[in-house]
Amino acid sequence: MSCKVVIGAQWGDEGKGKIIDILSRDADIIVRYQGGNNAGHTVVIGDREFILHLIPSGILRKGKLCVIGNGVVVDPEALLKEIDMLKAKGIKIDGNLLISESSHVILPYHKVIDKRRGAHIGTTGRGIGPCYVDKMARCGIRMIDIVNKETLRRKLSANLEDSDEFNFGQIYKEYLEYGKKIKKYLVNVSSLLNKAIAKKKDILFEGAQGTLLDIDHGTYPYVTSSSATAGGACTGAGVGPTRIDKVIGVVKAYTTRIGEGPFPTEFKKGLMEKIRTKGKEFGATTGRPRRCGWFDAVIVKHAVTVNGMDEIVVTKLDVLDEMDKIKICTGYRYKGKVYKDFPADIDILEKCIPVYEVRDGWMKDTTSAAKYKDLPENAKKYLARLSKLLNVKIGMVSVGSKREQAFRI
Ligand code: GDP
Ligand code: IMO
Ligand code: MG
Repeated sequence: MSCKVVIGAQWGDEGKGKIIDILSRDADIIVRYQGGNNAGHTVVIGDREFILHLIPSGILRKGKLCVIGNGVVVDPEALLKEIDMLKAKGIKIDGNLLISESSHVILPYHKVIDKRRGAHIGTTGRGIGPCYVDKMARCGIRMIDIVNKETLRRKLSANLEDSDEFNFGQIYKEYLEYGKKIKKYLVNVSSLLNKAIAKKKDILFEGAQGTLLDIDHGTYPYVTSSSATAGGACTGAGVGPTRIDKVIGVVKAYTTRIGEGPFPTEFKKGLMEKIRTKGKEFGATTGRPRRCGWFDAVIVKHAVTVNGMDEIVVTKLDVLDEMDKIKICTGYRYKGKVYKDFPADIDILEKCIPVYEVRDGWMKDTTSAAKYKDLPENAKKYLARLSKLLNVKIGMVSVGSKREQAFRI
């Protein structure tokens, strides 16, 4: 039995969905513990593509229990739509999905406020930040509240007391309806998981977003509003740190980011287009083009540290197949000084000149590599260099979007 946390080591979209799908083969329970439907996790099975936003990627395998923890913010409308989408694609949702009674609910006003105030951050507009604001301000509405008419009336009317913009009656009615539909999924997640741990079940915690989007450890204020790092699994699911056995970081072989904020290794136009096209770098949630850049060892080293990563999975190695030269950023030059460690000062991240080492590419197709030995020599050297710079071992490599296109090393 083991409890593993799988998290993103960059700015999200590292391929967590694909890796969770692979690892969930050997798991009993898969748990989301933070974020909400700002996430977009893609799983490709054969010629079918599934994009999951709230429901753990383990849902695509039979016999797995999928759980949404208290740390997640749930938009009931989005959740019900996702359930319908899965059912329409032939995935059974029948006792295999459970949701924490304590998870906070995204309300219409959260989405409106997010679109208004989140523009300078480039948020997904899903109401995530404002929902977490209410949670911290202790006026949030939780799942357990929308199944209780009186509690919902009291809390919602208090929140809308001074508002002429939002109609109490309409929202109240809408959310009571959601409550009726969602009631059957609600449980005490902490209790369920701790009982499962006592029974030696295998549990996989599926991180959303990435370390550099974490509210504490990311490129603040250009971050999301939750704890996307490994520690978030404990608070976001009600499982003690002593129960976690392993932390696995998912790392893209280059870097991408969506939304605003500093990105030291960002490409200029030509390379940007090339990698965006080859890597199909468009947001799985909003469809926005992702910004792309070289691998940044400074941010990933920071991610290895703050998550206590035991190993990493390197994804999208194949996207670099046609690059004759590949750069790795090993430090930031700023005002005559070279920073090798992640700086808290956003000014350094915004204005630094990246220090690069340049390596020869492999100029060969890797998409059919089935084991480490099949990789071209320079691809092996690239991976070895990343492992050395980050001081962490590589446990798996992914060379395509499909389930089969990954191998352990
Ligand atoms: P997540 O948010 O971390 O789950 O990642 P996304 O699903 O948002 O974005 C990752 C994208 O890359 C998806 O379209 C995946 O299908 C795709 N992908 C994952 N691993 C690989 C890989 O090794 N190679 C290629 N070419 N695509 C991959
Ligand atoms: P997955 O789980 C990439 C980004 C947004 C924005 C910032 C804040 O698929 O890796 P928010 O709506 O969360 O308040 O937006 O965070 N962002 C993501 N970027 N992948 C994600 O999730 C993201 N979730 C949020 O673009 O810059
Ligand atoms: Mg994504």
